[in-house]
Amino acid sequence: MESKHLQKFYDKTPPARIAALQAAGFLDNEAAATLQKGLKLPPGIADNMIENQLSTYDLPYGVALNFLIDGKDYAVPMAIEEPSVIAAASAGAKIIARAGGFRTTIQERVMIGQVALKNIPDSAVAEQQILSHHEEILQAANAAHPSIVKRGGGARRVSVRILPADEGEGIPAFLVVHLHVETLEAMGANIINTMMEGVIPYLERLTGGEALMGILSNYATECLATAECRIPTALLAKGKISGKDVRDRLIEAYQFAYVDPYRAVTNNKGIMNGIDAVVLASGNDWRAIAAGAHAYAARSGQYRSLTSWKKAENGDLLGSLTLPLPVGAVGGSINFHPAALMTKEILGYRSATELESVIVSVGLAQNFSAIKALVTEGIQKGHMGLHSRSLAISAGAVGGEIEELSQKLKNEKNMNLATAQALLAKIRVGRDDRDGRQLR
Ligand code: MEV
Repeated sequence: MESKHLQKFYDKTPPARIAALQAAGFLDNEAAATLQKGLKLPPGIADNMIENQLSTYDLPYGVALNFLIDGKDYAVPMAIEEPSVIAAASAGAKIIARAGGFRTTIQERVMIGQVALKNIPDSAVAEQQILSHHEEILQAANAAHPSIVKRGGGARRVSVRILPADEGEGIPAFLVVHLHVETLEAMGANIINTMMEGVIPYLERLTGGEALMGILSNYATECLATAECRIPTALLAKGKISGKDVRDRLIEAYQFAYVDPYRAVTNNKGIMNGIDAVVLASGNDWRAIAAGAHAYAARSGQYRSLTSWKKAENGDLLGSLTLPLPVGAVGGSINFHPAALMTKEILGYRSATELESVIVSVGLAQNFSAIKALVTEGIQKGHMGLHSRSLAISAGAVGGEIEELSQKLKNEKNMNLATAQALLAKIRVGRDDRDGRQLR
């Protein structure tokens, strides 16, 4: 539901936006007061997070609005430097909310760890040995990390992949043992890495091979999240282009990204604009999510669009996005980073699967907005409007100059840094003249 408190949200000042979020019920008093003070990472914490820490690196932290996901309203925090991402996500989500919102499915939440073994005397025998001793392997893995077992999770299944040698490339054969692990609310990298290292001695004895490494796989194909939406064409019309034409063009945009990797990469980059921004705001590892998403996009052997857009029997537009989303609701910086804690507060998510539902929906909204703009008015109109502020700041504008210069830039044919600098110089000369006249 569109809250009256959130109307013209973008026109408000940051303190007024925080008050509006509070009035709309997305923040309680304490969280609003914390947000008003700012979400600085204390130096004592930053110093203990990484080696050789010098300072912190700030990014804007904002919210995308209008997300109706599985019947619940969300304001979605994002940490991002690109000007148009939050605007695009909010605009896409608004149309999708009017069409009933996103429906999400989380198929399962199982993480995968690998041990790669080499110099195996007989791969077929080794595979048999592993499969017939799977109980012992699971026991060894769980013994390496008893606390996750106590909480109700742990290693559940063992599987084997035999990767033949590639003599042309001089690559030896590998026998890869996978453990399928339930890490519950955690993303579980440390749990899995501990387990994989824990089972190495047993696997070496069992197979007669030599372990090269034990590590989790970021290709989390057993932690897939799906978001879907169904949009009547009446909600799609844009200017002189009818809703039906917009629908057909959106479908063609998807088809183009399905067949052409050059387009698919850009299409998926747009999806990851939103996904990475929420993953980062939530304190999760966005590199892991990005790596898994792009590998999943290439699962057929060709890199393709992660989203699909099709026509329903009644003519509605059907959108869908599936990708691996092994995010955690606990663990690492999620437990202590002020912005990650605030993201939990604003989203009000109660589980890692709920966070997955939000993130996958953001990806679908982001793609919907991007390709809708691309196949109708083009993206530059909206992009450059927002980009003008960044350009004004890059040119050296400060305070009220930023808005003044950004407005002037929007009327320029060549919106670039040189134009911005020239206009800023004019603004300052004009102001000095005015000030001078007033003094005389
Ligand atoms: C820009 O950051 C993202 C887009 O290029 C995505 C797309 O082309 O689908 C607009």
